[in-house]
Amino acid sequence: MASTTAGDLLPYAVFSFWIWISVLSTFLGLLVLKVLYNVSPLHPLHKYPGPLLWRASRLPASYHHATGDLYKHIARIHAQYGPSVRIAPDELSFTAPSAWPQIYNSRPQLPKSQFHFAPPDTSRRIPESMITASDREHTRLRRLAGPAFLNSGIAEVEPVLQHYSELLCAQLAVACREGSQNMVEWFLWALNDVIGQLALDQEFQCLEERRMHPWPSFLLSVLKQTAMLNQIRRFGISLKVLVPLMSKKMIEERENFLNTATMAVKQRLAREENEAEKGELIGDEKERGKKRPDIVGLMLREMKGGERLTEPEVTANSVLIVGGGAETTSTCLSATLYHLCKTPRVMQKLQDEIRQTFATSEDITIKATANLPYLKATIDESLRIFPVASYITPRMIPKGGHVIDGEMIPEGTYVSMGQWYMGRSERLFENPKEFRPERWLESESDIKGPAGLTVDEVLKPFSLGPRNCIGKLLALAEARLVTAKLLWHFDMELDGEQPTWVDDARFYVS
Ligand code: HEM
Repeated sequence: MASTTAGDLLPYAVFSFWIWISVLSTFLGLLVLKVLYNVSPLHPLHKYPGPLLWRASRLPASYHHATGDLYKHIARIHAQYGPSVRIAPDELSFTAPSAWPQIYNSRPQLPKSQFHFAPPDTSRRIPESMITASDREHTRLRRLAGPAFLNSGIAEVEPVLQHYSELLCAQLAVACREGSQNMVEWFLWALNDVIGQLALDQEFQCLEERRMHPWPSFLLSVLKQTAMLNQIRRFGISLKVLVPLMSKKMIEERENFLNTATMAVKQRLAREENEAEKGELIGDEKERGKKRPDIVGLMLREMKGGERLTEPEVTANSVLIVGGGAETTSTCLSATLYHLCKTPRVMQKLQDEIRQTFATSEDITIKATANLPYLKATIDESLRIFPVASYITPRMIPKGGHVIDGEMIPEGTYVSMGQWYMGRSERLFENPKEFRPERWLESESDIKGPAGLTVDEVLKPFSLGPRNCIGKLLALAEARLVTAKLLWHFDMELDGEQPTWVDDARFYVS
């Protein structure tokens, strides 16, 4: 019988040890060469300035993207190095306003980076939503979903917005007697109630119960996880490897959420069919069976060339709207209230405008608030000083290169622009740190800032081009309505100075 001794195995162990050392040193060698190349004059982006480490490797940008404070670092890099900077070996950030249409509204479109939103559902439970869809698919989805978000659609869903903004004020009036209130939470609750009703026909009851509903809470946590997973994917590690590493709890939560969201849309669609079958309702029946207006109904109604959104497409886009439609507007409301409280002059002027215009809270409607110039200017100024999207998803330069800000950018480069650093730039705005809605008023809006441009020309908080924010009009209508109701009902002030509120902000999507 043959037996193997430790002595016999030694040569193999030594051999495999050396194989590993060689593989590792080759890998490290290539890595060093790549880093040296990235910072060398041979690199096609070498003329764009930026910190050495950021030009050498994607690690700093990815790390700060995953931790939500990338915007602060890009702002610092622009302040130090100028309007066009290199923030990763293959990525540039621009602040020249002329670059907006060149990046986000060029024909053909520049493809969107694949590392910013949730990658396509690998299990294909639901199809891609518009935010990740390919350009061709995206055009079809926007054509069918877009009309639901126009002013006519918003007017139809106004009763829902009215109901929840009144409920917010009523609930706050009770809560205020208990002491100071965290308005960031209250805005989140209110906006989630609105969006649950509009996009999934669900009553989340956040305001009534003074808590977040598990669905939007889950979507918020997914947003943060996705930011991290996407950055890991950047280093060539596929989702197939990453998903099994997710905890059992996370996978269960995801399954659970997708099942309940699918069921909610199914029930909503069944209601639509029942109503269609019943035909015209009359009398009491009409009152009881009255349709609740919502975005699902508006999206379903839209039929173009014999085509409408399918049930799974409605589900995918409803989930997207729940994820993107509440956090955003509630953040805008929190920032508006914070800056109003910090700037008593503006608070007083706005409160005067609102209280002198409306005799009762019921008079405050979407149409009426759209006609208040100082209110409109205040929300615009809030989006300048605290834009909800700190920067817009990078686009990729296609084959053959593309001209931006007068320079030919080589193919394969990621390019982006950011509201955060543009809105706060002294090059673009007089006293950018001052919260001054007057910059947006008609009398001043033709006044050019230091760069010779009007405010509107410099900032695009909802992005621009075919992939801009579909919810822009809804978000602005909600922000004006809720701000007007709050300031009509309440006198508000900060509980303490809250000096780090702005600095503590984190942005995980862009
Ligand atoms: C103040 C509030 C909001 C801001 C500042 C904002 C901003 C943006 C921005 C900048 C984008 C482009 C994303 C990118 O390419 O990086 C976007 C896309 C989008 N937003 Fe908003 N948003 C707001 C509110 C809303 C609301 C209320 C909804 C829905 C009810 C919504 C739904 C969407 C959707 C579905 C997209 C993807 C559009 C597409 O890819 O065609 N947003 N938003």
